[in-house]
Amino acid sequence: MSEFHLTWRKYGIRDNPYFNAPLTIEGENIPISSFIGRKKESEELKRVIEMGSDIRFMIIGEAGIGKTSLVNFVRNEASKNEFFTPIREIELNKVMETNELIILTLSVIYDEVKRTKKQLLNEDTISKLEALYELTKYGELSHDLANITQLNRQRLIDLFKEVVKQIVHPIYKGVIIHFDNLDNIEDTEGLIDMLSEIRDFLLTKNVVFIFVGDQFLPAIVNSKPRLSQIFLTPALEVTSFSYDDIKNILKERINKLRINESIPIIIPHTEDALRILFELHDGNIREILNSLMSCVLSLQPYNLPIQIAEDNLRDILFQKVNEMFMKKLTDIERDILLTILENKHITPTQLSELTKKRLTNISSKYIPKLIKISAVRFKYAEGRNRFYEVTPEIKWWKLKREENEKIKTKINQKDKINEIIQKGLKEFI
Ligand SMILES: Nc1ncnc2c1ncn2[C@@H]1O[C@H](COP(=O)(O)OP(=O)(O)OP(=O)(O)O)[C@@H](O)[C@H]1O
Ligand SMILES: [Mg+2]
Repeated sequence: MSEFHLTWRKYGIRDNPYFNAPLTIEGENIPISSFIGRKKESEELKRVIEMGSDIRFMIIGEAGIGKTSLVNFVRNEASKNEFFTPIREIELNKVMETNELIILTLSVIYDEVKRTKKQLLNEDTISKLEALYELTKYGELSHDLANITQLNRQRLIDLFKEVVKQIVHPIYKGVIIHFDNLDNIEDTEGLIDMLSEIRDFLLTKNVVFIFVGDQFLPAIVNSKPRLSQIFLTPALEVTSFSYDDIKNILKERINKLRINESIPIIIPHTEDALRILFELHDGNIREILNSLMSCVLSLQPYNLPIQIAEDNLRDILFQKVNEMFMKKLTDIERDILLTILENKHITPTQLSELTKKRLTNISSKYIPKLIKISAVRFKYAEGRNRFYEVTPEIKWWKLKREENEKIKTKINQKDKINEIIQKGLKEFI
């Protein structure tokens, strides 16, 4: 095996510019100041935070569209203006017991208190928090643990209120708590119950609670008046970026990751490639980043920095989807998958009408198989209708090039190589 080289060095950058993790206050990948666009949304969230108290607010939008980064960016700005907010968002991606959730929130707050190195809490409160903190020390807090402790919920809520009071007075304007990833909770009923049960905890003064989820979160909250009453409406919806925003996000990342001024940068993708992916993924940034990353992984390991351009983008991604999915399907399964691809969201009944296959087979045989191989996923339910969509990789099928197009580029490439050789020869002679 030959030596290992870091791929990105060839391009004059020190790390992967296509990372798909959110921007964080800690700035693990790149500083949070690299945040681009979203002026209107950030202003709206800022105004909500400025209310300082009695706020329960939802940020909603499709997966991978930029919700977490938006909240982290605005929280970071707020933290520079005397708002107290834990550096890390709190993952709320499964149904938890009320006690468990409060303990988790308290431990995240306590971590932040320690990080600030300020004396925000009195001795008595610190010792209570230390005791709770012990419970979370060994990783995830289990349901059992929360129950075994048999803590009285009201006492936990009182402790939370006391902690907030001591933090806020006299230094801070308020506390911001960011619960993330609620869309990962599939158990809708469980989520409704959990939110209803923590209602008293959510009524704490001087706290702004932010809940991040998908477009269906407001409906969940609205299903119980007791719950909907305490949420600020409407939710803030995060939509896809414009092409220019995405271009600028990548430009900013590449500049931030530049090795040094003396080494020139070669952007690993062309504008054409980016525009094709932008159209294909309807501006969903996470899907675009993942596609670019997949392409780089498949580029031939030359020492020269090869750019992802229209032709190799189409060839690589089409070949991938073909190998990973299409080749493993029967003609009927493929026909069904392509019909789902053509229709953004589709129900089994619509699919049965379009493909002329029996509904029972669609529901109990074909869709489960496509879900099993991760070619299709459940999108949402409306009444009794269940809608399905393809997973992002399946969209690569649309990048297929016509054979004559391929021949044309091959000839063009040959011409280009000839041209370079001729030019080189001339210079040499
Ligand atoms: N305004 C922005 N400026 C720069 N990069 C951004 C911005 N918004 C999002 N990104 C980048 O886009 C990607 C997706 O963003 P993010 O993780 O925030 O989306 P999300 O909606 O929270 O996703 P999920 O639904 O999976 O939680 C990340 O790599 C993130 O760094
Ligand atoms: Mg997120």
